[in-house]
Amino acid sequence: MIVGVLRETAPGEKRVAVIPAHVPLLAKLGCEVRVEKGAGVQAGYADSEYEEKGAVIADRAAITAGSQIVSTVRCASSADGGTDLEVGQEGQVWVGIADPFRSHASFDTLVKQKGSLMSMELIPRITRAQSMDVLSSMANLAGYQAVLTAATTLPKMFPMMMTAAGTIVPAKVFIVGVGVAGLQAIATAQRLGAIVSAYDVRSAAKEQAESLGAKFVQLDLGEGAEGSGGYAKEMDEAFYEKQREMMKSVLADSDVVITTAAVPGKPAPRLVTEEMVAGMQPNSVIIDLGAERGGNCELTRPGETVTAHGVTIVGPLNLVSQMAGSASQLYSKNMVTYLQNVIADGELTLDLSDEITDATLVIHNGEIRGQYLKSAYGKE
Ligand code: NAI
Repeated sequence: MIVGVLRETAPGEKRVAVIPAHVPLLAKLGCEVRVEKGAGVQAGYADSEYEEKGAVIADRAAITAGSQIVSTVRCASSADGGTDLEVGQEGQVWVGIADPFRSHASFDTLVKQKGSLMSMELIPRITRAQSMDVLSSMANLAGYQAVLTAATTLPKMFPMMMTAAGTIVPAKVFIVGVGVAGLQAIATAQRLGAIVSAYDVRSAAKEQAESLGAKFVQLDLGEGAEGSGGYAKEMDEAFYEKQREMMKSVLADSDVVITTAAVPGKPAPRLVTEEMVAGMQPNSVIIDLGAERGGNCELTRPGETVTAHGVTIVGPLNLVSQMAGSASQLYSKNMVTYLQNVIADGELTLDLSDEITDATLVIHNGEIRGQYLKSAYGKE
């Protein structure tokens, strides 16, 4: 069984799907690992390190033609900011973050070639799959990096500082959305000495935010927004309108606002309007982690930093690539643990009675399955 590891082609994508230290784990499963020349360089992993761990370095065409499994960070279509599926042989299996809620031109090739696609962001949140949970490992890093970005953008210090030249008051940081990214953002901003408050529509988030030292902002919005699997559910416009109204004064009193609010498979809820931005203090900063899904703030321009009403609004795309070394280490562990679930003795078994395989397999031998691509392809 040959497992190929490609160099990512999406602009700004510096991660690599498998790091050298994890090559022996795949070898133990009976796999030969072929890595595209230079695949790990931007994450700090040289070709020679892969070779030392037993991988073969090859060119892209040889990998796509010769591998039964192709392992990527982002596989979708280059037009959609991913790596095209260059399917090199019939029945090939592609694994990666596949953005399965939309159809992508390059998926057609896989369908035609009776291949399979395994989408890492669909790993179910069950105990057995925790070490495969790509969304958690990446959100954790994004929360950390969001705070560092805010701290270097804000023209003020985060911690209180008492000096002979006067006292600097600590920055006030407000975090909207207390999931994995929000919790890491709270912890990081606390460590930097800011005064941190947070809000989430899920009531369970209150205790978690408080346990990290943040003040939980209570908004009396009536109905809870708890969805299934620990996620939030999508609410109607009237709910969001009320939420925006209630958050206005909190924003006006914050130096930094970090928004991480998300609803699985949906565009990011619009929680910060232009009017709310206009009510913030000049020189304050918004870091919108919802930018990849359109943005939690209506002034966010994904991939750009803009200034409006004196407020700097950062809409980062793929923030984790700024820490490509650590991000690749975690992603690679997620990927290899996932492959350990489907490969044994050099044989790949896609067992649909396995909860993890069932949840993540969006194309199986050329058949589109699950709710994801079917709706995107208009079949459901
Ligand atoms: P996510 O990335 O889908 O959403 C981020 C946060 O935004 C969530 O906390 C959500 O409640 C919040 N949100 C949505 N709409 C909002 C709004 N209008 N206003 C404010 N906040 C809003 O979620 P993430 O970070 O992936 O995790 C969410 C949950 O899953 C958490 O309860 C977490 O503890 C749980 N989880 C469970 C795991 C497991 O069982 N293995 C692993 C990781 C997380």
